[in-house]
Amino acid sequence: EKSIYILGIESSCDDTSAAVIHNGKVLSNVVANQEVHAKYGGVVPELASRAHQQHIVPVVQQAIAQAGITKSDLRGIAFTRGPGLMGSLLVGTSFAKSLALGLNIPLLDVNHMQGHVLAHFIEEEGSKIPPFPFICLTISGGHTQIVKISNHFEMEVLGETIDDAVGEAFDKSAKILGLPYPGGPLIDKYAKEGNPKAFAFTQPKVGDLEFSFSGLKTQILYFVQKNVKENPNFIEENLVDICASIQHTIVEILMKKLKNTVKQTGIKHIAIAGGVSANSEIRKRLQLAEKHWGWTTYIPKFQYTTDNAAMIAIVGYLKYLNNDFADFSVSAKARLKV
Ligand code: KG4
Ligand code: ZN
Repeated sequence: EKSIYILGIESSCDDTSAAVIHNGKVLSNVVANQEVHAKYGGVVPELASRAHQQHIVPVVQQAIAQAGITKSDLRGIAFTRGPGLMGSLLVGTSFAKSLALGLNIPLLDVNHMQGHVLAHFIEEEGSKIPPFPFICLTISGGHTQIVKISNHFEMEVLGETIDDAVGEAFDKSAKILGLPYPGGPLIDKYAKEGNPKAFAFTQPKVGDLEFSFSGLKTQILYFVQKNVKENPNFIEENLVDICASIQHTIVEILMKKLKNTVKQTGIKHIAIAGGVSANSEIRKRLQLAEKHWGWTTYIPKFQYTTDNAAMIAIVGYLKYLNNDFADFSVSAKARLKV
């Protein structure tokens, strides 16, 4: 069989997304963001699952229409099984099962974190596909992991965060500065005009391949509180410098961990994935690492960094080729491991 269309469905957190992949190439990738969470300063699980219920049918219909196919062309339905918010995962899981059952085609369960990593295997003009083994730094709002990928389905977590995820560090810092959720992209934006050395924050003391961001968050909170006490306009007057300094501290930590990983494994093929891989500073620093340290780096296109269904569909496609189908009794799993 040469022509394989796979539908991917992603609903693990606050984005409802559907995508169609044809033999590894993306035909459509529709993402509906949920604005309801902004005013609460974070994702409210109950509201997220309700919004998924509203979005899932139109998003899937749009993805199929944009791909220029009909439902009957599909050969399999891939969905995010976990990790994520249970109520959100259940919407995508139930929908995927019903559709696969109705169309009488296979169901493909996908681990969201593998999706972030394997987004690098989407075939596209200008895409650079990593050779095995490679290292992927997966950085998102929920996870921070250094993963060794030996083949499509063999991944080993070499190190991860012992507390907050790096995206949380960005978002919580932004919240302290009075910026709306999600604050990561805003810190990135303001940092462009600021001095990264304006303020110094100390780095956490953890294992070589481990991360910790909760101490940094507390440091930033005390730093801001102390300065605002002395000058009520401190944040407004120094916003770009504070953002640049926070971002610099975080990116320094990420680069240091990657250096440790290269030293320990000898692997110099380095990929990044997940929402925070959209960050302009980490992208720039990786490009410099190619030049200065001889690494080969793999930086995803923006549309495949934050949560999207194309990354779920590509894993579904790879599993389809491997005859690795899910049983219809499969259930969503909030704490699914890589
Ligand atoms: O992968 P993702 O969409 O969702 C999760 O699976 O968590 O990642 C979302 C995270 C948020 O914390 C957001 O602030 C962060 O990615 N993010 C960024 C940037 N764009 C998104 N953080 C820093 N700089 C950015 N440009
Ligand atoms: Zn994600």
